[in-house]
Amino acid sequence: MAPTHIDVTHAAGRYSVLVGSGLLGRLDTLLAEHRLVSDTVVVSCPPVWRAHGPALGPVLGGHPPLLIPDGERAKALATVAKLYEGFVARKAERSTVVIAVGGGVVGDAAGFAAATYLRGLRVVQVPTTLLAQVDSAIGGKTGVNLAAGKNLVGAFHAPSLVVCDPAVLSPLPRREFRAGLYEAIKYGVIASRSLFDHLTGSLTAIVARDEAVLTPLIGECCRIKAEVVMADEHEHGQRRILNFGHTVGHALEAITKYRRFRHGEAVGFGMLAAATLSHTRGEFPAADLEALRDVITHMGPLPATTDLKVSEALDAILLDKKVAAGTLHFVLPTQIGATRIATDITRKELTAALRSIGLR
Ligand SMILES: NC(=O)c1ccc[n+]([C@@H]2O[C@H](COP(=O)([O-])OP(=O)(O)OC[C@H]3O[C@@H](n4cnc5c(N)ncnc54)[C@H](O)[C@@H]3O)[C@@H](O)[C@H]2O)c1
Ligand SMILES: [Zn+2]
Repeated sequence: MAPTHIDVTHAAGRYSVLVGSGLLGRLDTLLAEHRLVSDTVVVSCPPVWRAHGPALGPVLGGHPPLLIPDGERAKALATVAKLYEGFVARKAERSTVVIAVGGGVVGDAAGFAAATYLRGLRVVQVPTTLLAQVDSAIGGKTGVNLAAGKNLVGAFHAPSLVVCDPAVLSPLPRREFRAGLYEAIKYGVIASRSLFDHLTGSLTAIVARDEAVLTPLIGECCRIKAEVVMADEHEHGQRRILNFGHTVGHALEAITKYRRFRHGEAVGFGMLAAATLSHTRGEFPAADLEALRDVITHMGPLPATTDLKVSEALDAILLDKKVAAGTLHFVLPTQIGATRIATDITRKELTAALRSIGLR
């Protein structure tokens, strides 16, 4: 089957997002088709390379890949410095193409190294987690964490091509896969009732990673993400709807020091909290809240929240707000498939919403 092809235009040009089973094994051909025939440097991490390295021989150009350590801790300036050294050793030039093969960590760190080395090398994103395929590989945000906080250093650097192959997700640990699914649900709630219905109706096949069901689903998520980032490349307005579930989600991650929740799991709770808040305001139908709760419950176990304090979560939310120049932009669903941004959320409402997801 021909891959799904999504065209993303941005201030500095355009790129394609390709979604199709088996694309990884054809990466060299795809690069040629997209005129990315050049010297390439592949960046990945050990677990991904063990699983998928053998399929990528043809794009290595006879050189070993640059492997960064696995996990969120690798999303750091020290890793970027190592990548620069690797680029120097490989005599990378302005024409060199960096190929990032991995989850969001590899994509963000390699993307940032590419954005800044020689003031910008082209980067091809080859996302290998569900989260990276439906979210982080598209939109051009790159960056790393500092000890003081996540994603504090970064750059917008649009990729030259994004290649999503759902077949690469088969070795992904179940929990990682589920974490990505929460973001897929997010797209349904913010932008597409039909995507949401499709997800809820085919959950068993999706969780079993049936490629026939998964491939169009990933394509649809990519289409929505692409549309939103095209409307608002630098996150001044509309792109904020992508933060549905993220205000509370980020707070849960922060107060548990990023150790308890996978990001998507925290967003799962965050979506429930935001939907409950909206419902309490009379702005989100009971049936939709029920449907959202149902799908999140059916997706599998989430980490505990009952030992977490509302007051700590509130502090984290307000700190986030301060960082974001003063106003809390809270994404409220108005029905499944539509949202609005509210800037008048009260402490009392947040408290009730946090209690509704188990905090005390
Ligand atoms: N740039 C953006 O717009 C954006 C958006 C959302 C998230 N992010 C960032 O993405 C990061 C999280 O990404 P993630 O959830 O992909 O985590 P990750 O990159 O840490 O990957 C999760 C785990 O899965 C493993 N893995 C990846 N692909 C695999 C495969 N095919 N088979 C087996 N194992 C595999 C990885 O080695 C890792 O252990 C965070 O740092 C977050 O800030 C960025
Ligand atoms: Zn997210």
